[in-house]
Amino acid sequence: MCGIVGYIGNKNGIDVVTRGLERLEYRGYDSAGVAFFGVGQKRLQVIKTVGRLDALKHILAKQKKSGAFGTAVIGHTRWATHGVPSKMNAHPHIGCKKEIALVHNGIIENSDALREALSREGHVFRSSTDTEALVHLIERMISFGALSLEDAVRQALRHVRGTFGIVVISSRWPNRVVAARRGSPLLVGVGKKNEYIIASDASAISEHTKRVIYLDDNELISLSSEGHRIFDIANNTLFKNASLITWSQEESQKEGFPHFMLKEIFAAPDVIENALRGRVLAKEGVVKLGGLESVQKKLEWIKRIVIAACGTSYYAGLIGKYLIEEMAKIPVDVVYGSEFRYAPSTVDRSALVIVISQSGETADTLEAAREAKRRGAKTVGIVNVVGSSIAREVHAGIYNHAGPEIAVASTKAFISQLVTLAMLAVFLGTERKTLSDEKRKEFLKELVALPRKCRFVLKQDQVIKKIAKKFSAAQNFLFLGRKFNWPTALEGALKLKEISYIHAEGYPAGEMKHGPIALIDQHFPTVAIALQDSVYEKIISAIQEVRARKGPIIGLVTAGDSAFQKYTKHIIAIPQTHEALSPVLAVIPLQLFAYHIACFRGADVDKPRNLAKSVTVE
Ligand code: AGP
Ligand code: GLU
Repeated sequence: MCGIVGYIGNKNGIDVVTRGLERLEYRGYDSAGVAFFGVGQKRLQVIKTVGRLDALKHILAKQKKSGAFGTAVIGHTRWATHGVPSKMNAHPHIGCKKEIALVHNGIIENSDALREALSREGHVFRSSTDTEALVHLIERMISFGALSLEDAVRQALRHVRGTFGIVVISSRWPNRVVAARRGSPLLVGVGKKNEYIIASDASAISEHTKRVIYLDDNELISLSSEGHRIFDIANNTLFKNASLITWSQEESQKEGFPHFMLKEIFAAPDVIENALRGRVLAKEGVVKLGGLESVQKKLEWIKRIVIAACGTSYYAGLIGKYLIEEMAKIPVDVVYGSEFRYAPSTVDRSALVIVISQSGETADTLEAAREAKRRGAKTVGIVNVVGSSIAREVHAGIYNHAGPEIAVASTKAFISQLVTLAMLAVFLGTERKTLSDEKRKEFLKELVALPRKCRFVLKQDQVIKKIAKKFSAAQNFLFLGRKFNWPTALEGALKLKEISYIHAEGYPAGEMKHGPIALIDQHFPTVAIALQDSVYEKIISAIQEVRARKGPIIGLVTAGDSAFQKYTKHIIAIPQTHEALSPVLAVIPLQLFAYHIACFRGADVDKPRNLAKSVTVE
């Protein structure tokens, strides 16, 4: 998920790789490392540091002074998914014989099983990462007779489930670098005279060469001073031409998107897949949440759940309430992190407190977790940043695996929080036996179909942009939804406020007539989430009330709802899904709507005024 840079050639690879890692810093990371062979050296050198790259650069500068010159070098900035950020967990990882070094982006789903099997054969693991299993597996293939590094890597990958971009070097074959990809981006820059730079992102390559080979899933590449060979897992040689990159440095970090926020909205399908990976077996109707094992027994007898969170994460919590109450029949209260200590004086040992935080550093939410523990409750975190303060504070947790979120306005993290809460709801419902097999399977089938449906929603971008243009001068907005999509309406309003500075209110549609309706006139548009679900007719009544006061309507509807045209011509359609999952699809157009309006108004989308990405003050 974070940064990979590799080099083979005649330049000092240590310089190339460090510069490349600097180029990837914008992605966010928690530790960094490099591995290399000096000229004529057989021994692998590995240097790793926790925190900013500066510490690593400092050590490398000293090495350079004493003459270190790497011809085959691999480097990594880690964004932890398994195991806290630490020097031991930082990449590159090395095998028992210290002959192989590997960097990895992604998640190895069957790492526990691999770790167990390899440990039984005598391999000794030093880190708590999923990655380390890969390096021991490759080492095993060599000791079982693989004749080349490329063969060892290829054979090893046959046993691996999950996603990876990897780059591997070995002191047995010091003039070779092997890389492979499945689900995690990897591209190879082709320099002059068989010089190659491998990276997870074009920004680390573009200052050296514009010619790149994009690896596709399940492809490997072997690089040496003699040239390269691309092949697949079955060892068929593949022929691919290099393409020319035309992006500027800045653009390549955003992968062609004008803003990080847009890039992150468009990441939704991948984000969902990453959150589900290794956790949902839809056909069997099973959800496995390894992070909850330590509290599983306790979960059987909790009487209530309290969710504490702030901002967007709080809105995810509100949807979580509906999900958990529907699936597991446990009463759920949702409280702002900052209010937790005042409100639920009834929280005690019989409660489970779930804290939700993208950054894992939000002071209000962290304090809520601490207060919950003081009151004797068990705490579970739904956190995106591994090893963050909240992740370390709670008794157990589920990581979102959404990757670093750079734009201040949260988008993809919200999606991953909803998917995580949906899995948690099924998990609890299964434990409590409140869910029939049929209902569970049906729900999980819809859950795994979400990435595909998200792609359909993202195709509406231009339609949404047109509507946004039309309304970009409005001074106020009302967002309405009901039941599952009441919190979606709140989130839509928050997004618009945050990045376009337009005043917006989110309301449960039924509440509109109890006050906000006084605001409605022809200059006050309403965004209505009117999906064909159990509350459709009730939403239509609210829409009629707005229309009767000449309020313009933007309708977010279910694809195929042609009857809705009689209420407005400003319509965005999303696919049908399980009602409880519809916020995942419904929020995307609202994120895009806010984004386009902010662009039309010339606002600084990624860094809105007065806001910070993580709010570490109470
Ligand atoms: C979302 O767009 C916000 N900028 C903000 O509301 C955020 O969700 C809130 O500060 C909570 O952050 P957390 O998820 O990192 O705890
Ligand atoms: N899953 C790996 C780890 O936690 C790789 C993380 C990354 O992509 O940076 O170490």
